[in-house]
Amino acid sequence: MKLRYFSHSAFQITSDSGKIILIDPFITGNPTSPVKAEELKADFIILTHAHGDHIGDAFSIADKEKTLFICVNELANYCADKGFKAHNMHIGGGYNFEFGRVKFTIAHHGSLTPDNHYGGEPAGVIISMDGKTIYHTGDTGLFLDMKLIGEINKIDYMMLPIGDNFTMGISDAVKAVEFVNPAVAIPIHYNTFPVIEADPYEFKSKVEAIGKKAMVLEFGQEIEL
Ligand code: NI
Ligand code: MN
Repeated sequence: MKLRYFSHSAFQITSDSGKIILIDPFITGNPTSPVKAEELKADFIILTHAHGDHIGDAFSIADKEKTLFICVNELANYCADKGFKAHNMHIGGGYNFEFGRVKFTIAHHGSLTPDNHYGGEPAGVIISMDGKTIYHTGDTGLFLDMKLIGEINKIDYMMLPIGDNFTMGISDAVKAVEFVNPAVAIPIHYNTFPVIEADPYEFKSKVEAIGKKAMVLEFGQEIEL
């Protein structure tokens, strides 16, 4: 499988079988995105929560016939109301899709849509596919249950915010890495806007100082997992 980072919280996962999964595709209005929304397509779109910098371009990228939205119940209903196919889930629940398994976790944050609809609880997401397990925390503050998430899941890649202000900053994010104990931590949700400026290499060196591994992805970079 391949993982491509578009900056902020936006990723594209391409499965070994060629399925394309987008997570939180915030492209238009994202000054750090290296791609345009028109260049993207998706078989599946996973949204962690309803904020504009996470729903992003999901509705312009999605195909009403082909794309399946995967989100918590209230946000899935919102997508369905817009005419899209959606699979309703909720926190603590997992489901086996054709590309792999998706399970939602808690996240401490908010979730109002840009047009002021309640988006349900914000979430993190654990995706197990092609022999790897990824944990994208969504927008969240630090929480102790991350220890449990790390205990019951062997996380290969953990994507977590470091930008502070709306989410964890660097020092709390380093603690989150200690709790979850992933093979590799990838910092996200930083430098998109002045209010969330943070140095990902400071995060990397602090993660390495506690004996763990972090990888800073360039905006647009794609890696093979
Ligand atoms: Ni948010
Ligand atoms: Mn956000």
